[in-house]
Amino acid sequence: MLSESFIQELKYRNDIESVVESYVRLKRGGKTLAGLCPFHSEKSPSFHVYPDTQSFYCFGCGAGGDVIAFVRRIENLEYMEALRFLAQRVGLAMPEEVENDGSARLKTRILEINREAARIFHQNLSSPAGREGLNYLRGRGLSDRTIRRFGLGYSLAGWDNLYKALSARGFTEDELIAASVVSRRKQGDGCFDMFRGRVMFPILDLRGNVVGFGGRQLGEGGPKYLNSPDTPVFKKSRNLFALNFAKSSKEKGMILAEGYMDVIALHQAGFDNAVATLGTALTPEQCRLISQYGDSVSLSYDSDEPGQKATRRAVSLLSEIGMKIKVINIPDAKDPDEYIKKFGAQRFRLLLEGSANSTEFAISAIRRKYDLETDDGKMNCLKELAALLADIPNEIERDVYLSRIAADFGASREALSAQVQSIRKRAERARRRKEDGKLTVFAVNMPDGRPGGINELQRRNNMKYAVAEDRLLAALVVNPDYFKWVSKRLQPADFVTDRNRAIAQVLYGRLEQNLPVDLTSISGYLDPEECSQLSRGLAELSGRRVTREEAEDYVSVLLQHRKDKTQEEIAQMTDEEYARYLSGITAGKAGKGLPWNGDAS
Ligand code: CTP
Ligand code: MN
Repeated sequence: MLSESFIQELKYRNDIESVVESYVRLKRGGKTLAGLCPFHSEKSPSFHVYPDTQSFYCFGCGAGGDVIAFVRRIENLEYMEALRFLAQRVGLAMPEEVENDGSARLKTRILEINREAARIFHQNLSSPAGREGLNYLRGRGLSDRTIRRFGLGYSLAGWDNLYKALSARGFTEDELIAASVVSRRKQGDGCFDMFRGRVMFPILDLRGNVVGFGGRQLGEGGPKYLNSPDTPVFKKSRNLFALNFAKSSKEKGMILAEGYMDVIALHQAGFDNAVATLGTALTPEQCRLISQYGDSVSLSYDSDEPGQKATRRAVSLLSEIGMKIKVINIPDAKDPDEYIKKFGAQRFRLLLEGSANSTEFAISAIRRKYDLETDDGKMNCLKELAALLADIPNEIERDVYLSRIAADFGASREALSAQVQSIRKRAERARRRKEDGKLTVFAVNMPDGRPGGINELQRRNNMKYAVAEDRLLAALVVNPDYFKWVSKRLQPADFVTDRNRAIAQVLYGRLEQNLPVDLTSISGYLDPEECSQLSRGLAELSGRRVTREEAEDYVSVLLQHRKDKTQEEIAQMTDEEYARYLSGITAGKAGKGLPWNGDAS
């Protein structure tokens, strides 16, 4: 463990507000800030930052903690890595112990390998053996400037060029395999290169680290693209190609395209807000990532069937989190790359600005599914369109489309409207049932939404006590001066729920020694769940002080549990035990906490 004073210094310099702000758009409201939670999908902000206590808490998913907990979650880091991350952020040197942390060390090595590999791939372009790669990229219309900007490269043909080069630079076989730039030979010694004879697209994270590669073959035969698998530094589902550039684009919103080549062509044409997924379907995490940089997305997928399918998926995922979506239909070209080459950037901008919104896209997609020459086809199509209309939350927009569709189909506007209303009512009832269901599910989930959670079950079964504990613990953090009298009446062992008892132990331990107990000082002693739990209590106080009377009430509630528990124990006694117990009481030696103890004296 690093010294507490170092961690204090680290947190002091990394103000939670400024750290969170680089990931989440925050709006100030009084003493706190709120924004869309980066840890779960939501449309209205339930994620709060409390500069006073240097903590955050999401009322939607229960994620919470201090700045270290935030960085751990959002960057997916181990504790030590998070410290290093924050230290780097403010130019603070890490004490030496950290170098012993194995997994952090491996990640650093992998990043070094990736950077080195990217450099080698890029250099290959200017060597005779890599000429083919350079010609290919130029042939695809990329300028040397673009090639440099994206750090594109070429992996030489042959089996182990990269393996030899990187081994010579002191990287071990295990490290190279962990980075997934090589694989071990099935027979014999040594390794072979993962990428051979391909043009290389390095994938950068938001900090500018090379985290992986995509490699495209030059000719035919074999897989068109090879992508790095997930490694300790790379999670495909959490990254987007070119986000490192797009995040600071001046364009409005983002353009989501399908392929590396599309994104690069778009950037070259001036659309530096284009990103793409990394050889997989769009994930909810990627949607959240996009939503952190604006509230609109233009979908610019390929015009073929898979592209349209991917568009539908993206529309549904992105609208779930309330993003404004435009769908760009690309006429007379298979993808944005080809369109720009054929018709130029100016024409693409027109497409972008004039593109149909997601509702129009969905309507035309549904219409294409049916044979509208037949009555049957018309009927079924209208049915499906009614369901789509029912899904449009905005009444005016719903009305516009409803009128248009009714007119197109020569159907009665009133009849269609009635049908839509009845679907909406049904959906509303279903939604309510689901919400009710969710509440109970949420109660047995971990604060971070993971299922199971014996601790949450315990809380639910002891809600009254759990809430009193939450408040009392938060009160002790905000008003450490209460500790003297609280500790006279209540010990950590008296806490009912396990998680709060563990927090109480830490608080008591420190308060007894007159050490500070603000979240910043103690989070290192709490596990992430305990940290979230305490942040929740603090968030619910939202900065106000707890009066002494209020705190006394919480203490009484918890003492009541001790009594209840004793009653329960009595109920389970045998007659003989009970008799002994009674005689003990009459002899004045009753254990404290018996229900009639107070009355009898
Ligand atoms: N992809 C993949 N593996 C494949 C084919 C495609 O991972 N065998 C992924 C890549 O991320 C690729 C994207 O899907 O960028 C889109 O595929 P495609 O349109 O075929 O590739 P482009 O990048 O558009 O390349 P090109 O223009 O050279 O066809
Ligand atoms: Mn393509």
